[in-house]
Amino acid sequence: MCGIVGYIGPRDAVPVILNGLKRLEYRGYDSAGLAVLSNRHIEIRRASGKLSNLESLVAELPVSGRLAIGHTRWATHGAPSARNAHPHASRNGEVVVVHNGIVENYLELRQELLADGVVFASDTDTETIVHLVEQDLSSGLGLVESACRAFRRLKGAHGIVLMSDREPDKIVAARIGNAGGVVIGFGQDEMFIASDLPAILDHTHRAVFLESHQVAVVTQGGVTVQTLAGAPVDYQVHDLPWDPVASQKGDHRHFMHKEIHEQVRSLADTIAGRVDFDAGRIHLDTLSLSPKLARSLHKVVIIACGTAYHAAQVGKVLIERIAHLPVEVDIASEFRYRDPIIDPHTAVLAISQSGETADTLAAMEEARKKGALLWSIVNALGSQAMRIADGFISMQTGPEIGVASTKAFTAPLVDLYMLAVLLADLRGVVDSANLRKLVSDLALLPDLVGRCLDRESEVVSVAQALKDTRHCLYLGRGINMPIAYEGALKLKEISYLHAEGYPAGEMKHGPIALVDPDMPVVILAPRDPWYEKMLSQVEQVKARGGRVVAVATEGDQHLASLADHVLWVPETPWLLSPVVTVIPLQLLAYHIADLRHLDVDQPRNLAKSVTVE
Ligand code: G6P
Repeated sequence: MCGIVGYIGPRDAVPVILNGLKRLEYRGYDSAGLAVLSNRHIEIRRASGKLSNLESLVAELPVSGRLAIGHTRWATHGAPSARNAHPHASRNGEVVVVHNGIVENYLELRQELLADGVVFASDTDTETIVHLVEQDLSSGLGLVESACRAFRRLKGAHGIVLMSDREPDKIVAARIGNAGGVVIGFGQDEMFIASDLPAILDHTHRAVFLESHQVAVVTQGGVTVQTLAGAPVDYQVHDLPWDPVASQKGDHRHFMHKEIHEQVRSLADTIAGRVDFDAGRIHLDTLSLSPKLARSLHKVVIIACGTAYHAAQVGKVLIERIAHLPVEVDIASEFRYRDPIIDPHTAVLAISQSGETADTLAAMEEARKKGALLWSIVNALGSQAMRIADGFISMQTGPEIGVASTKAFTAPLVDLYMLAVLLADLRGVVDSANLRKLVSDLALLPDLVGRCLDRESEVVSVAQALKDTRHCLYLGRGINMPIAYEGALKLKEISYLHAEGYPAGEMKHGPIALVDPDMPVVILAPRDPWYEKMLSQVEQVKARGGRVVAVATEGDQHLASLADHVLWVPETPWLLSPVVTVIPLQLLAYHIADLRHLDVDQPRNLAKSVTVE
């Protein structure tokens, strides 16, 4: 998954960059590269595959300098190859850029640049950025202004670092729309830049974290921060603890908060390497799924525990709707003892963040005994659930430390969506226009999630209003029913409040008796195919004096006029809406627990990975 490192100072920058990239190896990548200002010119080294390939290349063709940027890549646009690896250079070689994120409007920008005579040297979306910067630089503007003008044209969420031999005293870094972090580290007369703290913790424990839509101009002596429009911004320098795990929390008070915010990045990473936006196709190579195998399947059974089980429930809707394949969903601890009906035409898919949950592993063994094709979606690479499966999908989110799972919930939602699209394609049940639309919608996700995170202060106000409640009911329907379950689970796990998730249509068969002014009811009512039904649910709760917290699509004034509180989410293609609607519910649970002064990261009685029955 993409990682960025930068250095400016008196030392040879190359070992600093290579060491930083090494510290990011745990994130996974398919190629790597670096650019160094050497004798007033920029030299680039790029290699596909392991970092050791880049190290060998640098050993063969040595390069050194005091200003450098480096990158590890997970392919999104363009195959993993040296040619598509970052850094990317402008035509005259004067500007180089490394980038995390997806340029959503890259096709439009590419067309415009092609019309201006630009020749592209790679298949990446990133390359558009460097050509835009070069155009302004050549017309006489300074590097920072040229960079900001280019940044303002990009749609989507990004972390970008660039430099130019025209202005060899600086590196420009930007964080746009919440695409993971950009951190600037202070040394003695030297400065470091990274996407992730581990890359620079060997050198510094004093750092500035860029906020969304901020640009840093880093020189050997320090950093100035400004908006994309050029207005100066005050920043705070954080002293990071020396404990390497604790220091990775950065400027977040809890890992859970950090991990909620990491989702913009982790979702981009989840998509990376799997989606060919140009061809409108999904590739899940580690699943070894052929068209013949896909056509031979009669049923998919998804098994999981806890939060992963809620992801499985969303997966049922996705695979049935998109791939027209029947899906059963089962709790692993039930499945393992139920003597389930499984045959060789059944694919059993286990979802597990840790890949070590005892019930899930036992259920997988049961499925194996019955002759099923065995798949898994796991976060921990090398885990048992990955090893014993016939094929697997890696979540690509990086380690999750908070016990209450957040980023390891949204990643499998996207994995399941990609699996559904791949199955549909291989089984021939989707036409090419629909396929292309399903695939291209994935590119919208990081930005949509970032927009939910931008509204965090509104969620804090709702948390303040709810923090002293004793119970809470969550209602959802269709694809968002599991999000009601997940929202309730998050609240009970970390705030110890009684919370219950319910399918909204079942409300009238019992739970409606609970509704009174002391029972807040969180109602998921985004604009999806169940929207009208959910509106009437809101009316029913209000008619009984209940307090409604609505998760609503931006601009839905009608719903806002009915509800007591609103958690806004941006308009999202409905098959992807659970990835977006869960974000305010994660934040709501987090802030209620925090306002109640509870141990958010390590809630009582719970364990991150349950390796006993
Ligand atoms: C524990 C954790 C949950 C998690 C569940 C399944 O109960 O506290 O957050 O959802 O295990 O874990 P897995 O690693 O299999 O996804």
